[in-house]
Amino acid sequence: KNEARIKQLAETRDLSRADLKLLLRTITDAESEELYAQARRVREAVYGKAVYLRGLIEFTNVCKNNCYYCGIRRDNAHVERYRLDDATILECCDRGYDLDFRTFVLQGGEDPTYSDARICNLVREIKRRHPDCAVTLSIGEKSEASYRAYFEAGADRYLLRHETANPEHYRTLHPPELSGENRKRCLKTLKAIGYQVGAGMMVGAPGQTLDYLVDDLVFMRALQPEMIGIGPFIPQKDTPFGGQPSGTLKMTLHLLAIIRLMQPDVLLPATTALGTIDPLGREKGILAGANVVMPNLSPTSVRGKYLLYDGKICTGDEAAECRRCMAMRIEKTGYHVAVDRGDHIALSNGI
Ligand code: SAM
Ligand code: FES
Repeated sequence: KNEARIKQLAETRDLSRADLKLLLRTITDAESEELYAQARRVREAVYGKAVYLRGLIEFTNVCKNNCYYCGIRRDNAHVERYRLDDATILECCDRGYDLDFRTFVLQGGEDPTYSDARICNLVREIKRRHPDCAVTLSIGEKSEASYRAYFEAGADRYLLRHETANPEHYRTLHPPELSGENRKRCLKTLKAIGYQVGAGMMVGAPGQTLDYLVDDLVFMRALQPEMIGIGPFIPQKDTPFGGQPSGTLKMTLHLLAIIRLMQPDVLLPATTALGTIDPLGREKGILAGANVVMPNLSPTSVRGKYLLYDGKICTGDEAAECRRCMAMRIEKTGYHVAVDRGDHIALSNGI
């Protein structure tokens, strides 16, 4: 029966809610090999064997929000807070450029110290220095005016995971001042402005059910984000969810493959969190349909302070080491690292 579901998904990109849930609940190891093989086939038909690199610059771990799962939440008094100055952020990009990165992702907590004007100046300066590069922002929920300003300054992409499509689940993961409706509204605004947009969720987040995961799949199919960031939830001991179990490798791989089949042209990272719960997690993600990796370009001095969850890998490595290590890992999977902005295929073809 799952064989038929996988076949239908691969051929039509579509499956009913009931079948998606059954597939997630009952898929066997042998069936998942077939699911991954289909996902690889579809990914190769669209993007070939290229794996795109994104250089992640975690420029501030200060956050005004208090998400229950997140290690850098406002109330975590154990975090040693840092903010990178503009010159340091730009140096990270310059170093990244020399290491073949053609996309820079500026990610941080929601830190009002970085005004819109400052973010815009940073984006403009990165694009001036590296006109052949894409800039991705991942700085949370902002006003439409702010999103427009960043876009006009040259930002190409925006990552804002929806976290969970189910409003009740959203409320159990966040304090009352945050709402799933606003998060979704932000995503729609970003799309309307013209960004390549990334949505996504944590797999195995506390309280998550298979129905909620199906809600996520259905939500993302309607939104059609250009990028989907999913990785396992991993507890951070100084948060309210510090005692909860991590999401599993298997469930994450199943979802990566299903997403690839539902949205063949999506840009899909094998995340650091996936590499944290399994030493070969990122490689397994690539072999289940992912086509993006996001090595860290943050200065080594702050790596160990951007701890969203416990056990995060690569916190001690220089950017150059991470880059080399990533190339080796990807080559072992039979794919290769591309020196390319790695835009969404429909957009890069001008469709
Ligand atoms: N502040 C921005 C935002 O809210 O979009 C960007 C930074 S935020 C830390 C980036 C992502 O980290 C979140 O969207 C969330 O899915 C993920 N994250 C936070 N805590 C996590 C945890 N304990 N395990 C796995 N992922 C986590
Ligand atoms: Fe702000 Fe997580 S609570 S980045």
